[in-house]
Amino acid sequence: MNPTPVILLSGASRGLGAAAAIEAARQGANLVLNARSADRLAAVAAQCRALGGEALTVPGDIGAPETARRMAQAAADAFGRIDAVIHNAGVLPPIAPVAQADLAAWETNWRVNLLGAVALLQASLPLLRKSAGRAVLVSSGAAIHAYPTWGAYCASKAALNHLAAVLAAEEPAVTTVAFRPGIVDTDMQAQIRQQGAGVMPPDLHAKFLAYQREGRLQPPEVVARPLVAVALRAPRAWSGEFVAYYDEKVQKLLV
Ligand SMILES: NC(=O)c1ccc[n+]([C@@H]2O[C@H](COP(=O)([O-])OP(=O)(O)OC[C@H]3O[C@@H](n4cnc5c(N)ncnc54)[C@H](OP(=O)(O)O)[C@@H]3O)[C@@H](O)[C@H]2O)c1
Repeated sequence: MNPTPVILLSGASRGLGAAAAIEAARQGANLVLNARSADRLAAVAAQCRALGGEALTVPGDIGAPETARRMAQAAADAFGRIDAVIHNAGVLPPIAPVAQADLAAWETNWRVNLLGAVALLQASLPLLRKSAGRAVLVSSGAAIHAYPTWGAYCASKAALNHLAAVLAAEEPAVTTVAFRPGIVDTDMQAQIRQQGAGVMPPDLHAKFLAYQREGRLQPPEVVARPLVAVALRAPRAWSGEFVAYYDEKVQKLLV
């Protein structure tokens, strides 16, 4: 019998991460969940436990390296293994042109979006190698599209894609994939509609208003299924790739 898979997941208190936690529990995984909001995280963990799995919480800023270390340690102590890591925590700000953006805000963005991934990988790789596990870096279409005023976010997601490629070259035992979730109906989209007004170019902002008006935002639960499928079942041959939730090969992994 295969052992119960253990997944480390950042940004699990709401949005895509919360849906992924619940989907992973539904598929029988044990979880170590992280986000800053301890109460919301505990509520998600309780929903996961109700589905039959174990769910531990490690509240804290994933931009601080000790958070990732605490997550890996919690998995080692409780389960003795790590089968997958999903770095889902992500932040959009600063919404500002590169010429004017606050450098400290760029640093915060990269600390969460990019360095959080590096810290999670560093903390988990010893056990990921043993399990021949998977690392999924939640990226974005913004990794390959240049959206004015999203410089920090776009560049951090492009860096995540390349980090996946480098890790694939360095760590042959681990399957590392960058994942494109499409446009998901979460707080981040609300933030774009609200805080992007008057700052983003009007045509770009209007595009995001239209996504909501036209019902084109995906429910988090719809995107969580392929995200968890990739974390649990992506073949080794995909290591280093940037895959989208809607790709035919990704959809074929759904159970
Ligand atoms: N929504 C979309 O359309 C879309 C499109 C492309 C890519 N994505 C990507 O998908 C991922 C999930 O986004 P979402 O839409 O679900 O966003 P969201 O609704 O804003 O949720 C973000 C999650 O990240 C957590 N988080 C933020 N800062 C953190 C930190 N410093 N440490 C630990 N956790 C932190 C938040 O929890 P706390 O506030 O409790 O810490 C929350 O659980 C992100 O990487 C995002 O870039 C989203």
